[in-house]
Amino acid sequence: MLIREGNILIERMNNFMDIKKQGFATRQIHAGKESNSAGALCTPIYQTSTFEFDSVEQGGNRFAGTEDGYIYTRLGNPSTARVEAIIAELEGGEAALATASGMGAISAALWSLIEAGDEIIADETLYGCTYALLAHGLTKFGVNVKFIDMADPSNLKDALSDKTKVVYFETPCNPTLKVIDIEETAKTAHEYNSNICVVVDNTFATPYLQRPLELGADVVVHSATKYLNGHGDVIAGVIVGKADFITTCRMFGVKDMTGAVMSPFNAFLMQRGLKTLDIRMERHCANAMKVAEFLHDHPAVDKVYYPGLKDFEGYEIAKKQMSLPGAVLSIELKADREKTAAALNKLELCTIAVSLGSDETLVEHAASMTHSTYTPEELKAANISEGLVRISIGLEDPEDIIADFKRILDELI
Ligand SMILES: Cc1ncc(COP(=O)(O)O)c(C=O)c1O
Repeated sequence: MLIREGNILIERMNNFMDIKKQGFATRQIHAGKESNSAGALCTPIYQTSTFEFDSVEQGGNRFAGTEDGYIYTRLGNPSTARVEAIIAELEGGEAALATASGMGAISAALWSLIEAGDEIIADETLYGCTYALLAHGLTKFGVNVKFIDMADPSNLKDALSDKTKVVYFETPCNPTLKVIDIEETAKTAHEYNSNICVVVDNTFATPYLQRPLELGADVVVHSATKYLNGHGDVIAGVIVGKADFITTCRMFGVKDMTGAVMSPFNAFLMQRGLKTLDIRMERHCANAMKVAEFLHDHPAVDKVYYPGLKDFEGYEIAKKQMSLPGAVLSIELKADREKTAAALNKLELCTIAVSLGSDETLVEHAASMTHSTYTPEELKAANISEGLVRISIGLEDPEDIIADFKRILDELI
């Protein structure tokens, strides 16, 4: 089966059944499988910057888009094409574009959507660098960005204007796990103007737990650094959406504006990680639920932010749009910031590090690390408290993660 995406031809195994009819686990392993001359089972690492043309005419034709085939790895490569095919399948999108990082995906998607004078409406609680891109980056180029709390859908109704081009949010949000109703938000934006592009960062959920395109969003972006790769050894991103939009992101957003292309080696690691996405997410979520319940009942803990807890604000909407509540949670301790830091420094199994979605449990202080791009006033507006500690629950035995926290928390009582 030959699939055309822009001027790039992806060759799929001819004898393959209609992959959309197969289950998630089958697709995460088999989607986009190529035939290759050596018969290699795994898609090889096509470690090449450029591709040979048979003739000057052929090269010209490929650039003109009148002939299919690879040109140069910044525009496409068989290793990255495999990752793109798998993630497009899993998200239910027409096409995907693999990028060098999550920020590469977000910036390439936004550069492809907006121009000076346009308006973006974004939720106020975002990953710190996404917030910086919107609040301090794009605004330098004549783009107006309005930050609102999208947990209340009426806020979006009030904020929409004739200049709105993009509605942007994460759900669950980094780092407060706020849950935003994807279906309701997309409906509100599209009822106002069907041309508004609703972009959802699906990093925390992954397509195994939540598929925004099926709920009415137009574009999904990911930090594939996290669960999609899943092993803490790659920085990567992906954009998923309609084929025409992905071609614009490839041939403008990445080719000309950011250059943020995924390397063939990282594509190989991504492809390997994706094969176990479902079983990793099941285990991550089961572990997170156990740790969240333990923390919720511990007397040294003031608040637990986790969409799987019944008393969490976003619980009902999470239940509606996610198959499991994810595996990132945040806590506030009753102790002050200094005592909290001193306690966390005594963790032995869990690692103090930013990032999430890795096999190892990672613990970080949002205000001074991932969200240090926010001023103290902006943190307050985004409901990110000074004491908030974000925990990405790993794949270790849950009893061991709990024991590590119990030891440091018991000392605070
Ligand atoms: C929700 C979310 N989106 C985007 C990013 C940026 O991804 P990357 O670090 O791969 O550029 C991150 C990084 O932590 C994130 O948590």
